[in-house]
Amino acid sequence: MDRIFLDNAATTPLDPEVLTAMTEVMAATYGNPSSIHAEGRKARSLIEAARKTVANALNCSIGEIFFTSGGTEANNMALKNAVRDLGVTRIVSSPLEHHCVLHSLDAIAATGAARIEMVAIDEKGHVDLNDLRRRVEETDEKTLVSLMHSNNEIGNLLPLQEVADLCAEYDVLFHCDTVQTMGYFPIDLDRTRVGFLSGSAHKFYGPKGVGFVYINSENIVKPYLDGGAQERNMRGGTENIYGIVGLAKALEKAVAEREAWASHLTDIKRYMMERLRATYPEVNFNGDPERSHYKVLSVSFPESPKGDLLLMNLDLAGISASGGSACSSGIDVGSHVVGHLHPDSKRHTIRFSFGHHNTREQVDYVVERLGGML
Ligand SMILES: Cc1ncc(COP(=O)(O)O)c(C=O)c1O
Repeated sequence: MDRIFLDNAATTPLDPEVLTAMTEVMAATYGNPSSIHAEGRKARSLIEAARKTVANALNCSIGEIFFTSGGTEANNMALKNAVRDLGVTRIVSSPLEHHCVLHSLDAIAATGAARIEMVAIDEKGHVDLNDLRRRVEETDEKTLVSLMHSNNEIGNLLPLQEVADLCAEYDVLFHCDTVQTMGYFPIDLDRTRVGFLSGSAHKFYGPKGVGFVYINSENIVKPYLDGGAQERNMRGGTENIYGIVGLAKALEKAVAEREAWASHLTDIKRYMMERLRATYPEVNFNGDPERSHYKVLSVSFPESPKGDLLLMNLDLAGISASGGSACSSGIDVGSHVVGHLHPDSKRHTIRFSFGHHNTREQVDYVVERLGGML
């Protein structure tokens, strides 16, 4: 059997149509988008068409989309610009955010420019909305709420509209890390009031190293990268044209095929839950698999001497999964998310995350092979 890739929350393979769109541009469009001659204008028009595609997908205006090098930069930009340019002195976030948010918050706290508060998390890993309400009600201090739409490790979903409405009610800024949900769940920014959102192409079958930040036009922020006038002065540097074209193509496809993909992935996830429960009754699931992203299943295996080798043994059997999130050092250091929810647990976590190429037969194979590894 070919390798089975069940790590689609870490990244997704490039869609062949996206690859074609990108290579066509690579072969034919070499102009610098800032040049005013024909080659430059051609490159510029591709970037602006891509921006329109992203804006249409989110129902916002093109002036609110800024291309970046990915989700990490988009989140850094939103958080740091909000503090530097919008007078934010208090950020309410959660301990379960992605490291690019948590470490940005550490960096902000270290400058003394804003203080950081963490909202309470319930036993299933959801944000405690009553605690959030208390925190946004409690002061008139300029506050930003930063909460992710779907947790990348356990998949839990934030009720985006409810949190956006709460923030709007108290005139609090809202940043939502939507890297895991972009293209997977509909987001209508005309209806849902958000200050900042982030997206990353490689999570929805686009290329790595390109993403975008949405900044609501009411939030007037200064350049994040100083340099030329690219991205309407917000981010200097010659644009990654191929990446941007690939991002737009991938997002367009994700939106067009969303319902079919969602129902396939939902089926695969349910099937794996059923098969695991039936075969290994001592297995359970981290977070709240009933209110979580249909692409993520975080499985908790009982403590066992072989447990530490589970990920490696899966890899040797041709199955790619993850111990938590994809870790930049390549070493699995355990998950801060699962660690927060179950601090004293000696159980072993494997995150399986699904893509549209996965099948029920692959799930059968994985469940069967797990037998010798537990
Ligand atoms: C929730 C979340 N935010 C941000 C990122 C960072 O995105 P990128 O890899 O494009 O920098 C990731 C990627 O793992 C993620 O899952």
